Amino acid sequence: MHRDPKAHWREPATALMYARTATQIGLWESERIMVQRYFAPTDDLLEVGCGGGRAGLGMLKLGYTGLQLTDFSEAMVSITRGVLADANPTWAALVAQQDATALTYADASFDGVIYAFNGLMCLPDRDARLAALRSIHRVLRPQGILIFTAPDREKGKNAAHWKDQTLPADGIPGDRWHETETSPVFMHSSNEAETRELLSATGFTVIECPLSTEVATDGPLVQEFAGETRFFVARKS
Ligand SMILES: C[S@@+](CC[C@H](N)C(=O)[O-])C[C@H]1O[C@@H](n2cnc3c(N)ncnc32)[C@H](O)[C@@H]1O
Repeated sequence: MHRDPKAHWREPATALMYARTATQIGLWESERIMVQRYFAPTDDLLEVGCGGGRAGLGMLKLGYTGLQLTDFSEAMVSITRGVLADANPTWAALVAQQDATALTYADASFDGVIYAFNGLMCLPDRDARLAALRSIHRVLRPQGILIFTAPDREKGKNAAHWKDQTLPADGIPGDRWHETETSPVFMHSSNEAETRELLSATGFTVIECPLSTEVATDGPLVQEFAGETRFFVARKS
């Protein structure tokens, strides 16, 4: 049976769930450290796959006023506008609908891009992940920085799951549909070598790729919501 990986993200109930994380969980401590390590408050920044505005709201509160938030899902865009407007009515205008695999901004528009909480790995296959990385690379300025996370299939409680998995069409292990409060969600778990190869194929140089647990001890709500994941920080080369 074919399942559409985008369907989950288009549901208003899923958007509401993500909007709650914006107010109840906020920017993770590990995200704050990585964002402040690589982005200056005056940078022109783009968030792709912003969900309910969780990371973007946290960054705006930290003073990143050059941030634009985007998501392909109309439901996510609409709820994020509401979440941001609650904090500051002028922030609602910072949200736009954009597909990460086909961004419409001019070449070299941004100093940095963030794709928080495993968003790249919600894309259905290697080709879609490559398309997103190429699109992000195009809108970044030379030496621009991309920060994202990806669940690591060789780490933590999921590691055993992949051992006996039948390989999907693209031949890469790590695809899985998870149950959620709303509908099942597709997620790919990569390993470090696989993601490094994707970044290299699209013109990025990896600066560092620590596990979230190596960056900070995130609070219990973050650990329950997101578990352990791997940050990738890459420079447009
Ligand atoms: C796991 S959620 C992360 C949401 C948010 N970044 C956060 O940290 O809470 C993945 C997000 O990616 C978005 N997404 C999925 N496919 C996308 C695409 N092709 N272009 C842009 N966003 C996409 C979904 O709508 C969803 O908001």
